[in-house]
Amino acid sequence: MNPHLAQLQPYPFEKLRALFAGVTPNPQYKEIKLSIGEPQHPTPAFIMEALANGLKGLANYPTTQGIPALRQAIAAWCQRRYDLALNPETEILPVNGSREALFSFAQTVIDPSVSKTRGHVPLVVSPNPFYQIYEGAAYLAGAEPRFLNNLPGNDFAFDYGALSAEEWARVQLFYVCSPGNPTGKVLSLADWKTLFDLSDKYGFIIASDECYSEIYFDEANPPIGGLQAASLLGRTNERLVMFSSLSKRSNVPGMRSGFVAGDAAIIRKFLLYRTYHGCAMPPPVQTASVAAWNDEAHVLDNRNQYREKFAACTPLIAEVLGTGMPDASFYLWARVDKLAPISDSEFARGLLEHYNVVVLPGSFLAREANGVNPGAGFVRIALVASLAECLDAAARIRQFAQKL
Ligand SMILES: Cc1ncc(COP(=O)(O)O)c(C=O)c1O
Repeated sequence: MNPHLAQLQPYPFEKLRALFAGVTPNPQYKEIKLSIGEPQHPTPAFIMEALANGLKGLANYPTTQGIPALRQAIAAWCQRRYDLALNPETEILPVNGSREALFSFAQTVIDPSVSKTRGHVPLVVSPNPFYQIYEGAAYLAGAEPRFLNNLPGNDFAFDYGALSAEEWARVQLFYVCSPGNPTGKVLSLADWKTLFDLSDKYGFIIASDECYSEIYFDEANPPIGGLQAASLLGRTNERLVMFSSLSKRSNVPGMRSGFVAGDAAIIRKFLLYRTYHGCAMPPPVQTASVAAWNDEAHVLDNRNQYREKFAACTPLIAEVLGTGMPDASFYLWARVDKLAPISDSEFARGLLEHYNVVVLPGSFLAREANGVNPGAGFVRIALVASLAECLDAAARIRQFAQKL
């Protein structure tokens, strides 16, 4: 067996099941699940129709690079959204959702042989709290993760000082998540500049996870993308790759469709890796993805629904928990001890038991670094259910917190 498998942590939802073992949710209430980041707005009909129309493609093996029409649609979207002129032949690849790509990317770019030649294991930097795939990707690529705390006192910025110069020199890959899961934090152009300077100094690759890029609240201020930041700063996209997804943008998490774009030299190697990995996108999904990337009206409608939910629920919840509007994404990252001392796990357990609302303890989404678990004391509340259910959940959260 691959010994690195033993380094993998149980997924947060497994930890949640263990936490809730033996709890009987109050039967007076219907369950409201705000724990999983799974969009629940309906999939647009035109995407389903395009998927059905693509079924004839099942007669052929797809190529790993995907059909030109898909890469062109993605390039055109990147042009409209970020004012980028990407080459669809060399700078874009379709992927089966950003998750598999974020994972397999580490297998492509990490050079574990440095442990023999230089006597140290390569490092992969991750935000903290973070999306757990980054950690597993690092371990299975023969690297070690290093976590940079994102704490509210520092406006969720990276704690760059946590690594020594010796450690920075070992970093081969840096995962960034903007808009962040779970904090909702969006990196500014100045934040990107700091990150690019570090990448220039130490030579690491930046993997920019942008799967929440289209869930934002101010139409005049969409989140800056990593490649966009590089372009605005007059840089090339050397050592920089972005990961994007239709899952949240178009309410198609089951379709498994996204893309990677950026540094052509890296994309070429990633394509080689993926050819052997055998992860070409099924033809009907490619057809449906073209339709989805070409349409923006449904994305606006999607955002309007989140905007309405956040406007209605955030003030209600902020009266009893320490939270506020995120920069973007569909999560409220909320401190639980505003009214009374309680841990995030106790809060989540009690809320389920008394009010049948499921939220995720923040400590499950983070690792202890520098003596703190930056998720401890927080819960992640995903406003993915309908407006009525989210409002109902907010009312129950208020009742629960006020009785603590
Ligand atoms: C931060 C982050 N990145 C990536 C993903 C993967 O999304 P998908 O594989 O559906 O594109 C998720 C899913 O929840 C996520 O929260």
